[in-house]
Amino acid sequence: SEVIALSSSMKLAHRQNSPKHGLDPANSPAQGKAQAGRIFDQSLRDRIVAIMFSKRSTRTRVASETAVYSLGGHPVFLGPSDIQLGVNESLYDTAKIVSSMADGIIARVGGHDEIELLAKESDVPVLNALSARYHPTQILADLQTMVEDPLLSVKMNASKSASESDGNAELGILAPLKGLKVAWVGDSNNILADMLVAYPRLGIDLSVAVPKGYDRDEVVWGEMQDGLRAPTSWRKGEVEWTNDPAQAVRDADVVVTDTWISMGDEASKEQRLRDFSGYQVTEALCKNAKPDWKFMHCLPRKQNEVDDEVFYGDRSIVFPEGENRRWTIQALVDKMFGRWEL
Ligand code: CP
Ligand code: NVA
Repeated sequence: SEVIALSSSMKLAHRQNSPKHGLDPANSPAQGKAQAGRIFDQSLRDRIVAIMFSKRSTRTRVASETAVYSLGGHPVFLGPSDIQLGVNESLYDTAKIVSSMADGIIARVGGHDEIELLAKESDVPVLNALSARYHPTQILADLQTMVEDPLLSVKMNASKSASESDGNAELGILAPLKGLKVAWVGDSNNILADMLVAYPRLGIDLSVAVPKGYDRDEVVWGEMQDGLRAPTSWRKGEVEWTNDPAQAVRDADVVVTDTWISMGDEASKEQRLRDFSGYQVTEALCKNAKPDWKFMHCLPRKQNEVDDEVFYGDRSIVFPEGENRRWTIQALVDKMFGRWEL
């Protein structure tokens, strides 16, 4: 489903052809998406989407509201201090009521069990806009960003041998990412979880460095293994798990990190700052990555996990990555809540 959603988003992401991303429209892997047209279809006309967030958000909230609006729908933002949820009313009752008045729900929650309960009890589709376990819409934007990065796509296309064309038809626009090595240096958190679930099955090698004691989530690991067991015509990516950041970034094409203190982890901040010593992404740490490695981060960012030189430097593709939240969410909103019978 990630592949379908991303294909759809590429059709919608018309602004990605703009020169500010450094893409030559004639050679862009996304060439043609501007003509796809569905963005103008107003597929959410007269539809209401409830955007129910129990945690802060800049990117996901703005992407969700603007995406719904662009497709002709009406977003209703429900923050934690706006509604009765959690103070005077249960999630079960809230799900029943909100889904009786809206055509879709985009929800940011605490525990992952909350999004599962919402999805079970709502009469309308529910999109996970972040739970403590997963952040799926972020990883769709990350995939789009890697596909659209001129350097990464050129490199990946150039290094393909004939046998590596296996699976190109099925993977579509994601095919150039097969064989890419992505390194994660950071917490065993919701961003890593969706990288583990999505990347190896798409043929992307993933090398993970987390501090000792920040173990993998067994549910996530099981999901990843289910994906690896599914038969495909292409080579699946390999996963390396280490406590050594320098080892993880060796020969990496892309280095990714995130905050060490996710929303909900604030109480263990001091302990975490100690435990993640040596995990800041810097040029020195990544000296054995590929010479032209790229840097990604979902944002919001703190200096703990990446210094300014990398974050604001030429390697960094964090701002196109942030903007791609809009286009990938718009694709999901269109697919999940849109009027496809039109
Ligand atoms: N990356 C991301 O989800 O950012 P926000 O928390 O600002 O939505
Ligand atoms: N891991 C972070 C991601 C924020 C977008 C968190 O859950 O707070």
